[in-house]
Amino acid sequence: MSDRGQWKSEFGFVLAAVGSAIGLGNIWRFSYMAYENGGGAFMIPYIFALLTAGIPLLILEFGIGHERIGSAPLAFAKINRRWEWLGWWAVIFVMFGIVLYYTVIIAWCLNFFKYSFTLAWGDDTQKFFLEEFLQLSDSPFPTGNVRTPIIVSLAIIWFLNWAIVYRGVQKGIETANKIFMPLLFILTAILVFWSLTLDGAGAGIEAYLKPDFSKITKPKVWIDAYSQIFFTLSLGFGIMITYASYLPAKSNITKSAFTIALINSGFSIFAGLATFSVLGYMALQQGVNVDDVVKETIILAFVAYPKAMTLLPGGNVFGAIFFFSLVVAGLSSSISIIEAFVSAVVDKFGVNRQALITYTAVFGFLGSVVFTTQSGLLWLDIVDHFITTYGLIVVGILECILVGWLFKFELIKKHINKVSSIHVGTIWGFLIRFFVPVILLIILIFNLVTELSQPYENYSWTSLILIGRDWLLATLVAGFLIASRPWKTERHKEEGRAS
Ligand code: ALA
Repeated sequence: MSDRGQWKSEFGFVLAAVGSAIGLGNIWRFSYMAYENGGGAFMIPYIFALLTAGIPLLILEFGIGHERIGSAPLAFAKINRRWEWLGWWAVIFVMFGIVLYYTVIIAWCLNFFKYSFTLAWGDDTQKFFLEEFLQLSDSPFPTGNVRTPIIVSLAIIWFLNWAIVYRGVQKGIETANKIFMPLLFILTAILVFWSLTLDGAGAGIEAYLKPDFSKITKPKVWIDAYSQIFFTLSLGFGIMITYASYLPAKSNITKSAFTIALINSGFSIFAGLATFSVLGYMALQQGVNVDDVVKETIILAFVAYPKAMTLLPGGNVFGAIFFFSLVVAGLSSSISIIEAFVSAVVDKFGVNRQALITYTAVFGFLGSVVFTTQSGLLWLDIVDHFITTYGLIVVGILECILVGWLFKFELIKKHINKVSSIHVGTIWGFLIRFFVPVILLIILIFNLVTELSQPYENYSWTSLILIGRDWLLATLVAGFLIASRPWKTERHKEEGRAS
C-alpha cells in the first residue's frame, strides 16, 4: 500500500469534510436562495434535493475514494483508464476556476473584517462597496487596475492556504478544521442569538421562513435547490473522493455521509436566522419592508449587512464577528480544493508534495489577480456561472453513469455496505443509476436553453464566450492532456480495497 496521507481519526475526517462543505455558500447564498424561492417553502425542494441527490452522491463519492484509494483522477483511472480525464477535469476547473475567485471573496471578507471596527463603509454602503472598494467597471473588458486593498488581503489568504495545506493532511488540514469548525459554530451561535433579540427580527424571520407555496411549482426553484445542494456539499469537486481516500480501511462511510450532510444543511438553516433577523431589524429602522432591503446575493453580504451594522448598537463587533466567520468558513473550503488538486498531481507524478503546494499557491495567487481588478466582480460572476452550472453538473452526471452503468457499481456498493453501519440498497441504486443522472440532465438542458435564449445577466456574448465557455473548455482540454501523460508512480496499478 502506498504512503498516502491519512486522517488521525474518523472524527477528524468528518470535521474536515464539514469544513469543506460549509463555506461562503452556506452563510450567504443559502439564505438568499431560500428567500428568493419561496422562503419556508424552499425547504421542500431543498430537503428533497438533499435526500435524493446530495446524500446519495456524497455516499457514492466517499465509496469511490475509499474503495479505490485515490484522488479523483486516480480513483477514476482505477475504475477505467479511459475515464481518468474526468477526475482531472474536476480538480482542474475547481483549482483553476472556483478557488481563484473564491479566495478573492474571502479576501473581501478580510477587508470588511478590518473595516468593521470603524464602520469604515459609512452610510452609503452600496456606493462604498461598488464605487470605492471595487471601483467596479461597466464591462469585463478592459479589466482596469488591480485594487490594492484586495490584492493585499488576497496575498494573506493565499499565504494561509499555503501554510495549512503545506503541513499535510493530519497536521495541516485536520488540525486547522479542529480549530475552525468549533470556532465557526460558536461565532455563528453568538450572531444568531444576538440577532434574535433585535427589534424587527420577527419580521425578518417571517420573510425568511414563511412558506410561499405558489413558488414551488416553478422549475427554477427546483433547479436552484439542486444546484445549491451540489455546491454546498462540494459534490463534483473531486474533494470528497480525495478526503475519503485518506480514511483507514475500517471507516463508517454512510454514517459519516449522513452526519456531514445534516450538519451542513442544519448550519445553513441556522445561520440564515441571523441574516434575516438583522435584515428585519434594518427594515424596521428604515421603515421599509424586508423585501426592500434584500437584493442580489453579493450585494446583500457586502452592502445590506454593513448597512445594518451601522444601525445596530455594537454593530462593529457584530460586523467583525460576521466577516471573520466568513473568512473561517471560506478558508476551510479553499484548503479542501487545493488538497484535491495537490493530491491528484502527487498520485500521478509522484512529485514532492511540499514543493508542489508552494508552486500551486503562487500560481493560484497569480491566477486570482484578474478577479482583484476593477472588473473582477464581473469576471467572477461569469466564471462562477459557467463552472457551477455546467462543470459540476456534468461531472455529477458522468460519475453516476460511469460507476452506475459502465463499471464496478456492485463492487463499490458491496464495499460501502461492508464497512458501513447504514446499508445502501435498491433505493440508493435507483437514485444513482436513474434518478440523479436524469434530474441533472434535465437541469443541464434547461440551463442550456435559458443560456442560449438570453445572454446571462446581459453580458456581451463575446465576454460570455471568452471568459465563461472558453475557461471551462480550457480546463477540459487540460484534463485530457494530463490524463494522456504516462504515470510516474505505480499507484494506478494498486488494487482497490474490495478487489
Ligand atoms: N461547499 C463550499 C461552499 O458552500 C464550496 O462554499
